[in-house]
Amino acid sequence: MISKAVDADVWQIKSLTDYWVGKNAILPRSTKDIKANLSEFFVWKNENRVLGVVSLEIKDGKTSVIRTLCVSPEHQGKGIGTQLVHTVLQHAKNKKMETIYAVTKNVGFFNKFGFSKNKTILSDGQEKAYMSIGFSSLADMNFSSISLATSSGNC
Ligand SMILES: CC(C)(COP(=O)(O)OP(=O)(O)OC[C@H]1O[C@@H](n2cnc3c(N)ncnc32)[C@H](O)[C@@H]1OP(=O)(O)O)[C@@H](O)C(=O)NCCC(=O)NCCS
Repeated sequence: MISKAVDADVWQIKSLTDYWVGKNAILPRSTKDIKANLSEFFVWKNENRVLGVVSLEIKDGKTSVIRTLCVSPEHQGKGIGTQLVHTVLQHAKNKKMETIYAVTKNVGFFNKFGFSKNKTILSDGQEKAYMSIGFSSLADMNFSSISLATSSGNC
């Protein structure tokens, strides 16, 4: 189930992200960086085990970026990544964001949510797609099936 990340999740977030950093799939996040930006992180947990992570970085009042999206290798293909993306899109919608973007190699995955490719850019020495989704698509989305436990209740 998805919740906002808490301090106790930090080492598991670090461990899961490091696994995918090692596979060159995502950019590294230091423990200090994760702790400093913990309020931007959501985790998918089962019995306190973190099986998926995503963060939504608010760039300015209108734009945010999906970062550090990853799922435990043994739990891929079970819909966890989809739920994490739905959660941050709902969060962005609540925050009245106008554009959400992702810089990714997984064009097909983000296409599923209505993101479209703006351009190809070089990030971390790799060719990646700069993809975005705008407010009108978000407004049309129905996230009512997503249940999100939050500590503050303001997501
Ligand atoms: C990408 C990732 C987050 C997806 O999470 P997941 O829980 O395995 O995905 P889900 O089970 O929710 O969704 C799987 C769906 O996405 C599709 N999908 C997954 N990766 C895809 C890709 N690279 N291209 C196209 N489709 C993809 C699957 O075919 C499946 O489609 P379906 O719903 O039509 O059956 C996960 O595979 C992962 O952690 N990858 C390594 C880290 C990474 O690349 N992160 C993205 C950085 S932007």
